[in-house]
Amino acid sequence: MEFSIAPLKALTALRSDCLVVFLQQSAEGCGLPDAEPVDALIAQARQDGDFTGALGHTHMLSRPAALSARRLLLVGLGAAPSDARAWRKAADAAFAMLKGRPTQRVHLACAEPHQALIEAAVPAFGDFAYVYTATRKPDAEPACRVQAVQVLVPSRQVVAARARLQRAEAVRAGMQLCRDVANLPGNHCTPTDLGRIAQDLARRHKLKVQVLGRADIEREHMGALLAVAQGSHQPPRFIVLRYDGAPKKEAPHVLVGKGVTFDSGGISLKPGAEMDEMKFDMCGAASVLGAFEAVARLRPAINLVGLIPATENLPGGAAVKPGDVVTSRSGQTIEILNTDAEGRLILCDALNYAERFKPASVIDIATLTGACVIALGHVHSGLFSPDDALADALLEAGRQAHDSCWRMPLGEEYAEGLRSRFADVANIAGRPAGSVTAACFLQRFAQAYRWAHLDIAGTAWKSGANKGATGRPVPLLVHYLLAQAPGGAMSG
Ligand code: BES
Ligand code: MN
Ligand code: ZN
Repeated sequence: MEFSIAPLKALTALRSDCLVVFLQQSAEGCGLPDAEPVDALIAQARQDGDFTGALGHTHMLSRPAALSARRLLLVGLGAAPSDARAWRKAADAAFAMLKGRPTQRVHLACAEPHQALIEAAVPAFGDFAYVYTATRKPDAEPACRVQAVQVLVPSRQVVAARARLQRAEAVRAGMQLCRDVANLPGNHCTPTDLGRIAQDLARRHKLKVQVLGRADIEREHMGALLAVAQGSHQPPRFIVLRYDGAPKKEAPHVLVGKGVTFDSGGISLKPGAEMDEMKFDMCGAASVLGAFEAVARLRPAINLVGLIPATENLPGGAAVKPGDVVTSRSGQTIEILNTDAEGRLILCDALNYAERFKPASVIDIATLTGACVIALGHVHSGLFSPDDALADALLEAGRQAHDSCWRMPLGEEYAEGLRSRFADVANIAGRPAGSVTAACFLQRFAQAYRWAHLDIAGTAWKSGANKGATGRPVPLLVHYLLAQAPGGAMSG
């Protein structure tokens, strides 16, 4: 599958399996040069009441008169001006019309602005074309038979459009990797498998990678990670990825991804319903891998470190028990009152490990709490940070990338609930504000640098008939990281 930019020439002579034209509701014609036959067809469709131009409204014409294209698909953009969400809705509607059709070569065109079309069409196509194949045969009748999509832009805009496409494609590749990894069942994605996947990614892009095993993790005194891992026969892993795009002296940005490859809850066992979805408890880790995939393709002038603590959380004879006190890498002791609050345990050791990089910023990404799903649903990821500038940068990245997050509070009043009579801190507080108290727990281990936490429990995957990973928050992370390069621009 390939996305490319082509200069807009005579529309009537274009050979295409489907020419898709995006139109404002009020537009008389398509606004493209040399397009009288197209405008005539539009006028006719409007007159016949077959096409209104309402947002997401579509009309397909077969063998359109006076065009070389086999099909013409009109797609409504609604009332002007169209925002990013409208563009995305229109792009989704366009690809939905191609479902199952023998449209291999597709062309997209609109009057203006082409940047908006590119930014919407690339991820929309990513969703449309995504198929999970790791552990099942593809459908006999694939939904997407598109092999090449070309966005038609005026010649003078080709260069700018190609730069925009390059970034959008890198994000799409990152999201795809994230989804492919995140969708893997627990028995196909153990901590060991996750380590191999990271090594493979590093090999493909010439990144540095280190995969620490149990003995290394013991040497690092990561007592909290080890406590979670001790109930499983699968050994834990601690993955360190590095991308060096700037001089060594530049402080790196660090991404930390929760890599619980299956979360049963441990001795504090979860209820059975939908427990299968806890294979997605490594979506934070998958998003770190996805961000590296995109960054490695775009090669911005930054240094980046990825940290992934990986383990299963299972009950068993050797499992950690409620009431057990363990010593984290930081030296702080933790009373594990609930073994199902394991994400914060593995993350706290990774956050402490991050100090060694003297980082410019540290962002952890985790499917951390069911409470975050209750608070924000499946719309925004939860954002927690004591640093206003960092929080604003992530909010802005989320807006730009159409992968939003919403800032949530931290604070002593919430952190008080984590007091323990038997350790320096407990791993849970009461039920209220569960996503906030979880973030407060992490904050204790993230004092040495600028830090933010993204709770992606509600945004990383979808349940129901279309169950599967979304690829979020890869777009947010990539936009944030690109903005950290000098001038916020791409290098090389
Ligand atoms: N991985 C879960 C959080 C989760 C649950 C994400 C459901 C998405 C959907 C996490 O490890 C967990 O179990 N958290 C507990 C914390 C509680 C014991 C304080 C939770 O949210 O119930
Ligand atoms: Mn849990
Ligand atoms: Zn979990």
